[in-house]
Amino acid sequence: MPNTYFRDFRVLVTGASGGIGSALVKQLLRQGARIGVHYHKNKPDFDELISNTKLGSKENICFLKADLRKLKEVERLFRRFIDWAGGIDGLVNSAGDVHIRKHFFEVGEMDIDADLALNLKAPFWLSRLAIKNMEKNGIKGSIVNISSIAAKFGGSPQTLFYGLSKSALELMTFSLGRYCCAPLGIRINALRLGVFDTPFHQRHPKDLKERIQMIPAKRMGRPQEAVWWIMFLLDKRSTYMNGQTVSLTGGE
Ligand SMILES: NC(=O)c1ccc[n+]([C@@H]2O[C@H](COP(=O)([O-])OP(=O)(O)OC[C@H]3O[C@@H](n4cnc5c(N)ncnc54)[C@H](OP(=O)(O)O)[C@@H]3O)[C@@H](O)[C@H]2O)c1
Repeated sequence: MPNTYFRDFRVLVTGASGGIGSALVKQLLRQGARIGVHYHKNKPDFDELISNTKLGSKENICFLKADLRKLKEVERLFRRFIDWAGGIDGLVNSAGDVHIRKHFFEVGEMDIDADLALNLKAPFWLSRLAIKNMEKNGIKGSIVNISSIAAKFGGSPQTLFYGLSKSALELMTFSLGRYCCAPLGIRINALRLGVFDTPFHQRHPKDLKERIQMIPAKRMGRPQEAVWWIMFLLDKRSTYMNGQTVSLTGGE
């Protein structure tokens, strides 16, 4: 039986210009979702997003630009999404980055703040806005936070606060799931990714070959493999799953 759950499903995807986010948007579009496509510096190409769908018009997509390190822009992004969609059924917090690779002996206050603002605070503000809106409208929606294997390994001496923010994101997911979402029938879960083949690694060049050899599967994950799990966590068939972190790491 075809899954029609995502037909007209109103979902906000942050970081939809990135490798994981854009692969997710394409899959959701194929299933008839209505998507807030967030980006920061790189506006996604509409024709590329719809290339494998029957969609001909822009009616299922709303492009939303925001620097998520700034609370005012986060709030404006959410308002614009609700004005367009009328409500929210799903939120995927995929925007994330290492602000700057600096040894922990060298990082300054601004560097730490930037990592926490994008990778922890923005998903928190957006989750809270989404939960309040779902509660107001009686929607039993789903939120997915994209975490990282850095939460397990502590990042590296150069990415300590990225790792710390993802670790805190997983704790936040558990806490919101347990104390806030579950009583409302809303779900929030996290997907912890290992090394995935996206532009993330072009921006942060390191010895990727050596890093891949450390992965038991001996390869990077493919964005489509992450999409499958995000869709599962959004889907009502995972209704009993709340506050959890799923690891998708090739065995790490
Ligand atoms: N790829 C991996 O190996 C890996 C591993 C573990 C976890 N993750 C996590 O997976 C998620 C998706 O990453 P990806 O691999 O798809 O990375 P990506 O291709 O580099 O995409 C990163 C996304 O974050 C957005 N972004 C960056 N700075 C922003 C800011 N200040 N405000 C708003 N948006 C901002 C980017 O927007 P613009 O491009 O428009 O500027 C882009 O859409 C992230 O949370 C990342 O931490 C990735």
